[in-house]
Formats: sequence, C-alpha cells, structure tokens
Amino acid sequence: MYVWSKLSNSQWIDAWEERFSGNSNLVIEYLKGGKSVRLRLFCESKKEADAVVERFGGSARKLVSADWNKVVEPPKPVKIRDAFVLTAETRPKELAALKKANAKRDLIVIPPEMAFGTGDHATTSTCLRLLVDVGRTRKNTKWSVADLGTGTGVLAIAATKLGCAEAYACDFDPFAVAVAARNAERNETSEIVVKEQDVLKWKPRKKGYDVVLANLFSTVLIEAWPVIARSLAPGGDLIVSGILATQAWDVFTAAAEHGIGFPQVIKKGKWVTARGGHLKDLIEAPDL
Ligand SMILES: C[S@@+](CC[C@H](N)C(=O)[O-])C[C@H]1O[C@@H](n2cnc3c(N)ncnc32)[C@H](O)[C@@H]1O
Repeated sequence: MYVWSKLSNSQWIDAWEERFSGNSNLVIEYLKGGKSVRLRLFCESKKEADAVVERFGGSARKLVSADWNKVVEPPKPVKIRDAFVLTAETRPKELAALKKANAKRDLIVIPPEMAFGTGDHATTSTCLRLLVDVGRTRKNTKWSVADLGTGTGVLAIAATKLGCAEAYACDFDPFAVAVAARNAERNETSEIVVKEQDVLKWKPRKKGYDVVLANLFSTVLIEAWPVIARSLAPGGDLIVSGILATQAWDVFTAAAEHGIGFPQVIKKGKWVTARGGHLKDLIEAPDL
C-alpha cells in the first residue's frame, strides 16, 4: 500500500473532493486551525501513487500495513435496490460471507483504485438505481448499452449483469480504461468492450444504443449532447449524472436543443441525476 499526500489551503477542499469523488480512499485532515488541509490518498500500487504525484504534485511513500488499518475505514458495501451489492472487498472468505448475507443480490466487486465509480458517490449510486429500473423494463428483450465516461466500469458491469446483450464502455483516461477492463474481468463480464475514447470525438454507430449512460460533468454533457443524441436509438433510455444542481438548468436546456428531455430528475445532495430520452418518443408515448 502507498500513500500520496499534499498540503493545500482549505478553501480548495470542494475542488479536491470533486476531483477524487467516488474514491473512498481520500482522507482530508484539517490543520492549523482550519486554514490548511492535509490530503492523503491511499493507493494499491506505487504506479498509482506516482500517477497522482504527476497529476497533482505532492509526494508518495510506502505505507506499512499497520498504518493502513489505523487511518482508513474500509469502504462499506453499497446496496442498490434488491439487485446489487457493491463492495471493495476482494478477500475470498469475506466475499463469500457477503454473498451469503445478500443471497438475492448480485455482487459487484470494485476495489478502490484511481478511477471514479466505487458506488459510494451519489451520482454512481443514483445512476445504478435508475439502471436497475430500466433493466427491468427491458427484461427478456435484447438491449444494448453504451457507458460514456465509464471510470471503474461499474455501470457497464451492472448493465451486463442485468442482462444487456451488448455493452460498450469508454473513457478518455487510459488509467480508467485499464481499471474498467480489469473490473469487467473480475466481475465475469469480460464481454464488455472497453475503449479509450473521448466522448466529444466519438462517432457512435448508426443504429445507436438502446440505453446510454453518461455520468459526466456538466460542461462535458453540454458539449456532448449532439453525440449523445445520435448515440441513443429511437425509443432508447438515457441516464445522465455528474450534474451539479446549480448547473442543471443549463445542462437540461442545452439537451432540449438537441431533442433530448428528462421526465425523471433526482437530486441527491448537490448532485442531479436524470432519466430521459428523445423528446419525440416521450411526447408520442401512450398516456400512463
Ligand atoms: C463522474 S466519473 C463517472 C464514472 C462512472 N461511470 C460512474 O458512474 O461512477 C466521469 C468519468 O468520465 C470520464 N470523462 C470525462 N470527460 C470525458 C470525455 N470527454 N470523454 C471520455 N471520458 C470522459 C472521466 O475520466 C471519469 O472516469
């Protein structure tokens, strides 16, 4: 185990939390009467710790295992409806116990690594809940999914476990792509096609995807709407997140300009997640 650390002014705390959101191995400690903070990120390998130093400065050192238990609470498993339990646990005995205690749920194992999407962030868990709903409406049909900005691969893994026939996952961060591919294998969903791809430069296939998942940030979503609209097949379900409540109006009005609408909007803390589709399909849908 390695630890990356850096001192920062406490006014930047929000920015650091957002940068590492979803990674439960970040510990922020206030110093000197609250004016400064010490950031520590616990990493599985030297390579990961060095990658953080290269990106954000600071320093990395090896951690003796005794320190690890003292400073970091192991992330708690996250339950998603009655469908999934997300866990960082990789030890076979502990995994077996978790499986036994949650016999009716599928286990998704995502160890903490330097990629977003361990399930404990509001955006990931809300996307997963909506995905479970979508998966159930599509049960026994042949549906495809595109997971744009896949991070750890968690959404594509869940979609595959829910029975999708085809899953494409991409991220522009090569590190995330490697993590997602590893997690797909680990969770016996290695049929997921994981690619290094910038969503903004992506050319989706003509027939599109039945379900498109995009937990990206507001600025990326606004720029990506034309691509996202093209990637969604007629009658498709779109789940988006990563939207700060303060930016949601801009994000949704920009989506409408590309024929996309969201009848279901969920706010959790400062984050907004939404489920929608092509406005044309929503308007022409039969009354409930
Ligand atoms: C908020 S995380 C979501 C991760 C995961 N899908 C989840 O739901 O937890 C956003 C991910 O999108 C990726 N990303 C951001 N901008 C992107 C872009 N233009 N093209 C591809 N990936 C992008 C980031 O590298 C990051 O892994």
